[in-house]
Amino acid sequence: MNNCAIGVFDSGLGGLTCVKELNRILPNENIVYFGDTARVPYGTRSRETILEYAEQDINFIKKHSAKLIIAACGTVSSVLGADKKAAGNVPFTGVLLPAAQRACSLTKNGRIGVIGTPATINSGAYGKAIRRIRPDISVTGNACPLFVPLVEYGFTDRNDPITKLAAEKYLAPIKSAGVDVLILGCTHYPIIKETIADYMGENVTLISPSSEAAKYALSLLTENNMLSERSGKGENIYYTSDSIELFEESAHAFLGDTIGGEVHKVGIDELISAAQDPA
Ligand code: DGL
Repeated sequence: MNNCAIGVFDSGLGGLTCVKELNRILPNENIVYFGDTARVPYGTRSRETILEYAEQDINFIKKHSAKLIIAACGTVSSVLGADKKAAGNVPFTGVLLPAAQRACSLTKNGRIGVIGTPATINSGAYGKAIRRIRPDISVTGNACPLFVPLVEYGFTDRNDPITKLAAEKYLAPIKSAGVDVLILGCTHYPIIKETIADYMGENVTLISPSSEAAKYALSLLTENNMLSERSGKGENIYYTSDSIELFEESAHAFLGDTIGGEVHKVGIDELISAAQDPA
């Protein structure tokens, strides 16, 4: 048994889709979330910068004695690849492997699509992870750079014409490849999953890496006897590197609920010193 919090971080708000799922399937757990809203997006930055930010984010979360750290960010997960030791001696997972495993188990025709930020798609990490599990599978990927700003600015209605147009443009090559499973390889994308599903059609199963990472957390904590002993509901506590008010205003759309926890501001200097003086 372990009553410490599960640590979750993302470049911004997308990782809250993972918090939503964790709250649903692990309601007794405390969660500490960090969203690097001052530096979002990560997905258009260089590999070096993403690695530097990821190190700072992980060390910041480690200072909160997390028992498990989840990089609820497709970009960080892809750039780190299968690096299970990214958080040192604290159990760590990204969203990539749980999603790749699920996709491999669901595809019937052996064709999987992956969409994500430019950094995620350029890393080729989803393809590598999938082929390590099932070398016979063909993977078609496409970067969707406009999806994150569309979600952040609230263009999330199923019938929003701008989002529909962007979806058509980005998803056309994936649809032509005849995939039967599509990984939404960025934690922002579940917010526009209806628009994506409408374009892809009912024969394509969409996979949310946030949900898969939450399920992975449940099995890891169960297998290692690390679930909390709490009988009541756990607490969420949030940290943001930009305005608390903006975080609170936008979080609802990702959580599908009220924020239900305190939000604190963390300065970039604090993140940098967390990496220089790791826990
Ligand atoms: N939530 C991030 C991801 O999953 C996307 C936003 C970004 O580009 O930082 O990749």
